[in-house]
Amino acid sequence: MDINMFIGIGRADSYKKTAKTKRYVKLSVGEANHMIFLGKSGYGKTTLMRGLVEEIYIAHQMAKVPALIIVLEKKTDHTKSEKIMAIYEEESYNSEKKIIKKYGEWVWEYIESYIKLQNQHKRNLGMMGDFAFGVPNIIGKFYKYDDKNTFLGRQGLQPYVFPTRRFVFRPRRRKEYIGMDNGWHMCKVFEAKIPYSRIPFSLLSSFGSLGEQTLYAQRLKNIWEIEGIKDPDKVIDIALSHEKNPDNPSSTYFRIAETMNRLKNDRLFSKTDTFFCNLSTDAINVIDFSSNSDLTHEEESLIFKFLVIHAIKVASQTRTPIYFVVDEVQNMLTTEHGKWAIDKILREGRSMGINLITATQYMYGLPQSLLMGASHVGIIGRLASHSDWKVLSKLIDDFEDSVEPPDPVSTYTQYEDFKKKMKFKGWFSWDKAYTERIEFRQPQSL
Ligand SMILES: Nc1ncnc2c1ncn2[C@@H]1O[C@H](COP(=O)(O)OP(=O)(O)OP(=O)(O)O)[C@@H](O)[C@H]1O
Ligand SMILES: [Mg+2]
Repeated sequence: MDINMFIGIGRADSYKKTAKTKRYVKLSVGEANHMIFLGKSGYGKTTLMRGLVEEIYIAHQMAKVPALIIVLEKKTDHTKSEKIMAIYEEESYNSEKKIIKKYGEWVWEYIESYIKLQNQHKRNLGMMGDFAFGVPNIIGKFYKYDDKNTFLGRQGLQPYVFPTRRFVFRPRRRKEYIGMDNGWHMCKVFEAKIPYSRIPFSLLSSFGSLGEQTLYAQRLKNIWEIEGIKDPDKVIDIALSHEKNPDNPSSTYFRIAETMNRLKNDRLFSKTDTFFCNLSTDAINVIDFSSNSDLTHEEESLIFKFLVIHAIKVASQTRTPIYFVVDEVQNMLTTEHGKWAIDKILREGRSMGINLITATQYMYGLPQSLLMGASHVGIIGRLASHSDWKVLSKLIDDFEDSVEPPDPVSTYTQYEDFKKKMKFKGWFSWDKAYTERIEFRQPQSL
């Protein structure tokens, strides 16, 4: 079975150079197509990723083949709520009737309530995530694409909202505020805790800074990994029972107890799972790695690795199509866990129906497998480096003739014109065999 995902407006096969046609990427259920998007900062990479996620969600819902969509979000974007405020103010000079005609009644009500919340909780709000699927995109309905159309209008789209589950780790602000910023009732926020049962001994040993060879590390490894007792309280009891003199336990015991207590006190872990069991195919799952979560870089990639392990299990048991959407993928590729996760999807994902959709500014320093493993390659706005252009020219037959090299512009006006002309637009290389200019699908949410 194939599912068609609208990717944007391409050029029709017509003698008329200006003729346009809607383009769809075929997604085959049970298989996977990896995609990578490259582009210089500010041309709309994240905006495009949001549009694609919406499209994947809609296409799967319509085909009644639910998919597990997992988006790794890296940043919040405070300019979005500032823009909403500015649009709200500017529109308030128009009549209610005119506004409602333009945005639709519920969209405008949504925005009005958003503004109200912003004013009520000024100090705690304004940090909308890069992927706020629960907030309708009034920016794309406000800004003009040309004399006749808005950005959304041109593609026959309306602002819309999507059910979202947002997973925050060791939250840095209240869940209610995170929810309000990302579309309140459309966005369910979970404080995600990883269950002890998923923790491998290797993590514990880094956690308790245990030397692998020491007696306590060996003893803990035995209980945790070999006996499989992954419960801190039980581990402490067992460790005590191993003691010759339980009334006066050895330092080995104390080290084990200390490591277990540290685990128990860490909000990232718990006995019960509030993370994996709440991932849903009826919503878009956003993994909040923005400043809302208090995580180290290492922990973020470890969570990604856990997700990939989970996805493989789900895919092999239920054949559910799975999509990992990783914006700023270079962040994930600086750690061993992250590399493992990406590599695993690239190697095994295709046959299991696990898709990888990534975006980055530069290819430099990233593994070639990311490009080699991708079926389709997209460029947004312009490439950020000449060496990437060369790499792609070698890999894609018609690239050199189709895609403008990222030559420097010589005046400020040229720079501004180019940016305006190319924002949200670029090239799409189908199966790395045919490259065409495309206006990418706009997101309906913010
Ligand atoms: N229709 C629109 N018209 C103008 N600006 C828009 C529109 N839709 C979104 N934007 C704004 O454009 C800005 C840049 O887009 P986006 O964040 O997608 O770029 P990016 O390529 O991901 O940049 P970066 O590399 O900095 O992450 C965003 O702040 C967003 O609010
Ligand atoms: Mg971005």
